[in-house]
Amino acid sequence: MAHIPKLFGIVISFLVISSSCDKVSSSDTIEDEAPKILYDSNEKYFYVKAVRDVHLAKSLWVNMDYIEKIDFGRKWPPAYDQMLMPTLRYLESLELSFNFTFYGYLTNFVTFDIDGRICMKKITYYNEQCNSFVAPLGMKLSFRKDESFIKYIDTGKSLIVQWGNVDLYPPFYLEEQNVTLQVTLYENGTIEIVYKQILTSLFVLFYEGDFRTAVSIGTRDSKGYIGKDENIYGVIALQERMNNDFDIKNGTVIVMTPLPTCNWFTSCELCTLSKIYFKCVWCPQLNRCTNYGMDRNYNAWLSSGCVNNYISSSYAEKC
Ligand SMILES: *[C@@H]1O[C@H](CO)[C@@H](O)[C@H](O)[C@H]1NC(C)=O
Ligand SMILES: *[C@@H]1O[C@H](CO)[C@@H](O)[C@H](O)[C@H]1NC(C)=O
Ligand SMILES: *[C@@H]1O[C@H](CO)[C@@H](O)[C@H](O)[C@H]1NC(C)=O
Ligand SMILES: *[C@@H]1O[C@H](CO)[C@@H](O)[C@H](O)[C@H]1NC(C)=O
Repeated sequence: MAHIPKLFGIVISFLVISSSCDKVSSSDTIEDEAPKILYDSNEKYFYVKAVRDVHLAKSLWVNMDYIEKIDFGRKWPPAYDQMLMPTLRYLESLELSFNFTFYGYLTNFVTFDIDGRICMKKITYYNEQCNSFVAPLGMKLSFRKDESFIKYIDTGKSLIVQWGNVDLYPPFYLEEQNVTLQVTLYENGTIEIVYKQILTSLFVLFYEGDFRTAVSIGTRDSKGYIGKDENIYGVIALQERMNNDFDIKNGTVIVMTPLPTCNWFTSCELCTLSKIYFKCVWCPQLNRCTNYGMDRNYNAWLSSGCVNNYISSSYAEKC
């Protein structure tokens, strides 16, 4: 409950664009480019804003020189085959010191895997799917250089994760990219991604080669298993939004501010009277406010009988 006003209080706090950068530069180096808004859009679950601002990116960057790189607690060696292909999965799960709000759900376990994502749960077995995640650059990554790393700091109010000097894996990228980026998950649900170094523009890389489908940049959550398959919802696929203007390269900063979801409402009244993007209905059998089942635990919604018997805003007096 305490979180509801927080979420409602969301005043989308745009990045403050430094006024010290108003000098127009004749130089070609991106260091001197004026900050530029690349993308600015309501994506229903998040408000997404992307800018390119090398100075902002630098100021958000956290020095982790003194932090040990993680040693991937569970790995199944050999991690790379003769072709230096990452055949197996590296996993490291971590309990957070705070609850992170993700699609309206509290999460205090995350797992890093080799696929460039932060999974929003503790992954306990090798084949377990990761369908609820934050992906700054979700594709196979190679950590085989000595200087490659994942490091993190849990500040008690945020989790800051850095991927350093990693390469994109699929074998079609023979070119090294030496990517360094940082993701911060704030307790209030805000996600901030800072791309510090990428040797080639990601737009050029993905579109010229048409490898867009090989990457996920953004977030998604899972409705849970329905039969054998885990069903996803709420997909934010920023790789599909990329274009000449919205490119991801050195100095791109993406901020995703969470927007309210139905599952936050804990009473029938709050649920049915809610005025948010989603149409929320109350399921009395489950004591649950839902966007017609489009959230976690879809199976419970299906078997509850609420599918044909929910309380919607037009019948709020039935609460
Ligand atoms: C969430 O926390 C971040 C970092 O402290 C802050 O910039 C942002 O304004 C906060 N958002 C809300 C909605 O409170
Ligand atoms: C996280 O949320 C759970 C469930 O609401 C609560 O029991 C727990 O105390 C919270 N943890 C922290 C660190 O706030
Ligand atoms: C990758 O980038 C880092 C930081 O810019 C640099 O120190 C390192 O030498 C680079 N590695 C390669 C193989 O280019
Ligand atoms: C990013 O910065 C590196 C130096 O750190 C530079 O070599 C590279 O060309 C830059 N990439 C882009 C796309 O500007």
